[in-house]
Amino acid sequence: MQLWLRIPLGKPDDDSKTLQTQDDYWKIWNSFRLLSDHNSKLLVTLDNLNTMPSDNSLNHWYGEPVAAFIIHTDSFLTRDGDNPKHLSEGIQKLITYFLNHYTQIIISENQLNCSKDEESHLETNSAEDSRIHRLLPYIDQVRSIYQQMDPLSEQERSQVAFRDVLHPILQPFKEISQSMVYSEQEKDEKKYMEYKRAICQALLDRVPDEEASVITTVLVVVGAGRGALVRTSLQAANETGRKLKVYAMDRNLNALASLYKQRESMGWNDIVTVIQTDAGHWNAPEKADILVGELLGCFGDNELASEILDGTQRILKKDGISIPSSYTSFLQPVKSSKLYSAVKAKEQILTFETAFVTKMHNVARLAPCQPLFTFTHPKRSIKESNRRYRKLQFVMPDVPESTMVHGFAGYFDATLYKDVHLGTEPSKATPDVFSCKRVPHSSQHDISFYRPYDIIVELSTLLYWPAS
Ligand SMILES: C[S@@+](CC[C@H](N)C(=O)[O-])C[C@H]1O[C@@H](n2cnc3c(N)ncnc32)[C@H](O)[C@@H]1O
Repeated sequence: MQLWLRIPLGKPDDDSKTLQTQDDYWKIWNSFRLLSDHNSKLLVTLDNLNTMPSDNSLNHWYGEPVAAFIIHTDSFLTRDGDNPKHLSEGIQKLITYFLNHYTQIIISENQLNCSKDEESHLETNSAEDSRIHRLLPYIDQVRSIYQQMDPLSEQERSQVAFRDVLHPILQPFKEISQSMVYSEQEKDEKKYMEYKRAICQALLDRVPDEEASVITTVLVVVGAGRGALVRTSLQAANETGRKLKVYAMDRNLNALASLYKQRESMGWNDIVTVIQTDAGHWNAPEKADILVGELLGCFGDNELASEILDGTQRILKKDGISIPSSYTSFLQPVKSSKLYSAVKAKEQILTFETAFVTKMHNVARLAPCQPLFTFTHPKRSIKESNRRYRKLQFVMPDVPESTMVHGFAGYFDATLYKDVHLGTEPSKATPDVFSCKRVPHSSQHDISFYRPYDIIVELSTLLYWPAS
């Protein structure tokens, strides 16, 4: 059973003295929510009454579990006589927003408008039929708003199943993932295009045109997986006309099995050496001109990029290039009742201090993102610590008087090389980067497909803290 709490959206006609603003109504909802300890079965029904919504009437309700939106027949205006009914632009916008957020639209007939005859028969079947008949023009109006909504792009459609659903973050530094996990990630063409641009620039910077046929650049792929970055590096060498020798290193044999096969079938045997080892333990036969690693996760350093790249810095030439060369994580306070309930449903205090991956949908972003931790490679001194501590203060100028901070959204922005960057931080997110085009399978095992980095560009990590 769910309980829907009916709350006015706008100011009721009776103009109560105690409840003056939307903030007061939101506070009523919030008190109930807190009294019920964020019970996921307690939802909101917003009643538009007969008021004209103001531009900011929704401000309080972003990120809230609005199950239904009630519009009264009186809110429909008439043109040229009785039909067709139409709605003000403000209400149309509200309906569009709610339809986009799976909110039911309820059309409530104002009984004062019914004739006496109809009123006396309201309970009978034939009266019910006639009521439905009477309501059809109103329903048609809502339907036409639905039909005019912008259709979702193919990418958005494929990600609908991820909306506001928590997925665990993959931890490749501590888990040995199946090869399939990486095969999903490799579908992220845009991501590898950015890596290719970075490698091309690095190759051109290291080897001038006149020496292109003489100098061979040594490139090490740190955490090569199934070989997507090996392929990308060879393409970059091809495009720039530079000679390349690649060492592909990974600790995970599951992933490397496919790279071994690829090396064979693509005839890379003379160019690519595959090594199964932990990055920290590898005694490289020669020093690298370029180190490339795809270890950023969704928060810049949650897959231990900094530790792993530091661990391999000793095999990089003094003037060598690291791709990525730096990355920064970002935080943003958010309100999201659904995600908070999902964390709470796990009934483990630990989950409140765990990062998850999700595609944020019904979420209120309460303040601009702020940078958190930055790491740079190669380090000037390998002794520089990776410990970070930072205190952030968020100012929320655009949110209503009262709000709820359910948690923090996390993003990253990485400089791969010079002006080539890759990231999810909303103000400069790389467009179209995503790996999980496929709708999730339902088994627990398959959930590990949702490696954050693939999803994070569109699906953000949420770091949760108990609501306060
Ligand atoms: C995110 S995957 C990237 C795979 C591949 N480069 C790609 O773009 O598809 C990271 C890879 O790093 C490997 N890895 C993680 N920690 C490592 C370590 N300490 N030493 C070697 N490889 C490691 C994992 O096994 C995994 O294959």
